[in-house]
Amino acid sequence: MTFVPYDRPVRAAFVGLGRIYDLNMRGYMANPDVEVVALVDPSEERRAQRQEDWPGAKVFASVAELAASGLEVDAVEALVPVGLHADVVVELLGHGWHVNLQKPLCTDLRGAARMLGTAAASGRVLRVMENYLFYEPLQKLKAIVESGEIGPVVGYHIKMVGTGLGGWEVPLSSLHWQLEEMKRGRGIMVFDDGWHKLATAIWLFGPVREVRAWIGSTEIVPGVEVDAPATIIWQHDNGVRGVWDITVADQMYLRSDYYTNDERWEITGRKGYARVNRCTGRGIQQPSLEVYADGEMRGYHALDDDWASSFRDSGRHWLRWLRTGEGPLLWSGEEAVDVLRFALAGYKSSAVGGIGVDPRQVG
Ligand SMILES: NC(=O)c1ccc[n+]([C@@H]2O[C@H](COP(=O)([O-])OP(=O)(O)OC[C@H]3O[C@@H](n4cnc5c(N)ncnc54)[C@H](O)[C@@H]3O)[C@@H](O)[C@H]2O)c1
Repeated sequence: MTFVPYDRPVRAAFVGLGRIYDLNMRGYMANPDVEVVALVDPSEERRAQRQEDWPGAKVFASVAELAASGLEVDAVEALVPVGLHADVVVELLGHGWHVNLQKPLCTDLRGAARMLGTAAASGRVLRVMENYLFYEPLQKLKAIVESGEIGPVVGYHIKMVGTGLGGWEVPLSSLHWQLEEMKRGRGIMVFDDGWHKLATAIWLFGPVREVRAWIGSTEIVPGVEVDAPATIIWQHDNGVRGVWDITVADQMYLRSDYYTNDERWEITGRKGYARVNRCTGRGIQQPSLEVYADGEMRGYHALDDDWASSFRDSGRHWLRWLRTGEGPLLWSGEEAVDVLRFALAGYKSSAVGGIGVDPRQVG
């Protein structure tokens, strides 16, 4: 079935009204492309809290209740815990609704095949939102590299430090399912937050042909292990190599309006380099993007470097896409499977002592 754009505002439902709803909802606010018609969450407290944002929306405790109500819905913003992604997305697509799913797509290829298979069979669109692709300093970084300003790329690195102090409150209920995922080998650093770093790598330099990884663990409190230190290196099909350094610093304070994650991306070209100094947290208090070439350093001081804006713009992009059907989805389900394969290749490499693994070969 071919996708037919909507010639009226899209009727949308939020499914999952937890922590990240606070940022995802920004794409929907004051947006003429959408009408929010339903809110779904088993938590009565969350439903009441979010109803204040959308007084005209109907509230439901489950997707089944929404479906049974007969309310007309075109698309769903799916913001449920990762372990539920595959089942919930299959259910939503089965009701004939398009889905904008929070990353990660899911934790294994079987779940991915179920989701993409259901999307194809139902003729509905599954998008896996990747807000980092809408973070203006990263967009500018990509444009600078592609302009040739720093010369041909010779390599790049990504740094990520999970810090223990600062940031917004993360409810215990959100941490609870993250801990369960960690126990199942899908850690918060490499897999959950790491998904973004892997996605930006593919977005910047294209498909990956080989991954080598050494994934460690640190006990933060008795019984809770975080998947750091970890080092992951890879080579793209185009020959460019990336290195990703992941550490956890549980006693470090990081000023942040959101999660306490200190991040940077630095790309080296034959005649200069370009570096994004921060993203989720406030990190290095320099301009969010700096470019060095020909003996001069240029700082970009006026980019929209509020991490929340990337959620707003990703959401707006999706809703505009539903109205026009034009342009890339950023990301499609298939592109998200490439990110999943990249992560799985890292796990496989680490398990066998760090030898190279081709993401296309992981089964
Ligand atoms: N893009 C990012 O940077 C980013 C950041 C944080 C979280 N996330 C992703 O967002 C998703 C949600 O994370 P969160 O931190 O908001 O979690 P959360 O636990 O705070 O919220 C999840 C909500 O889903 C509800 N829920 C559970 N089962 C449900 C069901 N069957 N139907 C409807 N609602 C249900 C819960 O009651 C809860 O309110 C996850 O996929 C996570 O990986 C992405």
